[in-house]
Amino acid sequence: MDKTDTKPNMTDLFTLPARTLPLVLFFFAAALVSNAQEISSEPAAISAGQTLFDNNCKACHRVHQKLIGPALAGVTERAPSIDWIKSFVKNSAAVIASGDEYAVALYNEYNKTQMTSFSTLKDEDIMNILAYIQAEAAKGPEVAAAPQDGTAIPPSGEAEGVSSRYLNIVLVGMIIILLLLLVILAFLIAAVKRFLDQKDLTAEEKEVIHSPITPSTIARSQGFIFIVVFVAAALGFKAVINGLYSIGIQQGYAPKQPIAFSHKIHAGQYQIDCKYCHTGVLTGKNANIPSPNICMNCHNQIKQGTTTGEGEIARLVKAYETNTPIEWVRVHNLPDLAYFNHAQHVNVGGVECQTCHGPVETMDVVRQQSLLTMGWCIDCHRKTDLNTRGNAYYDNLVEIHSKSSAEAMKVEDNGGLECAKCHY
Ligand code: HEC
Ligand code: HEC
Ligand code: HEC
Ligand code: HEC
Ligand code: HEC
Ligand code: HEC
Repeated sequence: MDKTDTKPNMTDLFTLPARTLPLVLFFFAAALVSNAQEISSEPAAISAGQTLFDNNCKACHRVHQKLIGPALAGVTERAPSIDWIKSFVKNSAAVIASGDEYAVALYNEYNKTQMTSFSTLKDEDIMNILAYIQAEAAKGPEVAAAPQDGTAIPPSGEAEGVSSRYLNIVLVGMIIILLLLLVILAFLIAAVKRFLDQKDLTAEEKEVIHSPITPSTIARSQGFIFIVVFVAAALGFKAVINGLYSIGIQQGYAPKQPIAFSHKIHAGQYQIDCKYCHTGVLTGKNANIPSPNICMNCHNQIKQGTTTGEGEIARLVKAYETNTPIEWVRVHNLPDLAYFNHAQHVNVGGVECQTCHGPVETMDVVRQQSLLTMGWCIDCHRKTDLNTRGNAYYDNLVEIHSKSSAEAMKVEDNGGLECAKCHY
């Protein structure tokens, strides 16, 4: 019996790995699972991640689309590890400097554009951002965005264009009709003359009928002089009226700027959010023009433009380094007597920038799209519904309003036409 105990048991030799294998597999799987579980699918984490992403990353990254940096969908699968992502986001320069193969290759692929370092982000923040990216990636690439409300509304000023085009058509039509009438008249005169010639007429009568119509007889006729004077007076009057109406109106104004900054490149091609640069639109009266600091978040690295080469960006860098403000020429300017507030319109009213400023993202040079007259403000306040959704402040008002009128409440119904709202 004892002998059999000391004898090496062949079955034991085989069962040992067989017994440990599941254990090893278990740890391996646990490691995998825990790695996958690290990225949360909790709505709270995803929404925290979205806020962080929008505030810090969106200027350069999209989930499905390459922008200044790579599309981030699937980054957890392609990057070396989640820890790598954490250190790269906190300090990409250090990772690249360490000679990390993946980082160096990526850096070169992106023309040595250095990503901003986010040393203040905690591991937890980065995990939330990854949660957001994963959730977005799972949704699949977004369908081509439907035209936004703002773009559906024709830019103001269109109306003026249409009516003057219409006027021209009417004018041309009238001239054609007049010419036709002249031709018909000529035929009638010829016919009458032929008819009279067949009658017995005195020599004097014949002379009247056949008196030649020469340019000089026309020019001396009273009727002709009257017509010329009338047309000249009408044209002069129209010019004066047009001039009077356009005093102080700067529609179409598009001054040259000290640096050839292009909205078409930044807001169009690279889809940088308007609010990234115009930081005041949600909270203040003024939209704000960005300081060179904001520009330098990207132009620390991007030194070369495709259309203007190094020249224009160099001017930006110089202004930044010498701390001289860039003297942007103001495009939109209301007289001091009128008060306009961006937050009221963009944040509370939910009006799109483009409704008032036109398709800025297609403009190399910003131009004033709207009239910016009092009539323009009032016209919109008459037509536009008050944005009362989710705004408890308005609940009471809406209830009172709905008792007296079936129509939606307009800005006008909330005092939007009161002089004192726009003039102090
Ligand atoms: C100023 C522009 C910029 C900002 C802002 C930015 N990134 Fe990047 N990011 C880049 C560029 C460019 C790269 C490509 C690598 C390189 O050139 O260094 C990159 C690469 C990455 C990568 C690696 C991608 C891959 O394919 O492996 C990750 C992950 C990343 N960024 C995450 C973030 C996160 C998260 C944020 C916000 C907290 C952020 N980035 C903000 C420009 C930016
Ligand atoms: C990268 C920063 C940046 C982004 C993004 C950006 N802008 Fe601008 N914007 C500027 C700068 C700088 C100026 C001043 C120079 C000029 O007029 O071109 C300006 C000027 C303007 C002006 C004219 C201001 C005046 O003087 O009256 C309007 C209107 C405007 N931006 C609207 C927009 C809208 C709408 C968007 C989004 C579609 C947008 N901007 C996105 C930087 C930016
Ligand atoms: C979020 C990143 C980002 C910010 C912020 C930014 N830019 Fe740019 N800028 C770019 C990119 C990307 C290009 C395109 C480079 C190219 O043409 O390939 C560019 C190009 C330019 C060019 C050259 C255009 C050309 O085609 O030659 C100028 C000038 C410029 N930017 C000025 C500015 C100014 C001024 C600001 C601040 C008001 C600013 N940028 C803010 C990313 C940015
Ligand atoms: C309801 C119309 C309206 C909307 C919507 C609107 N703006 Fe304006 N914007 C104006 C008017 C009017 C001015 C001139 C204000 C003045 O001179 O006091 C102006 C001026 C500006 C200026 C110049 C200077 C400044 O700081 O005020 C910028 C930049 C600007 N708007 C950007 C934007 C952006 C970006 C948006 C969208 C987020 C936007 N605007 C939405 C009407 C509008
Ligand atoms: C594209 C439409 C539009 C244009 C153009 C517009 N507004 Fe408004 N305005 C609104 C909307 C919408 C609101 C209501 C916001 C809200 O829900 O409280 C509003 C509200 C206001 C208010 C607050 C009214 C109140 O009862 O509290 C003032 C003041 C104002 N606008 C001034 C102006 C001035 C000045 C101009 C012209 C320079 C102008 N607006 C042009 C749409 C417009
Ligand atoms: C929704 C805003 C708004 C309301 C309400 C409003 N105004 Fe104005 N008003 C303006 C703006 C903007 C201008 C500047 C127009 C310009 O520069 O062409 C202006 C200009 C004026 C001017 C200067 C004359 C001119 O054409 O330059 C007078 C006077 C005036 N308003 C009187 C009034 C009176 C009186 C009321 C009340 C019945 C009133 N406004 C209500 C926005 C408003």
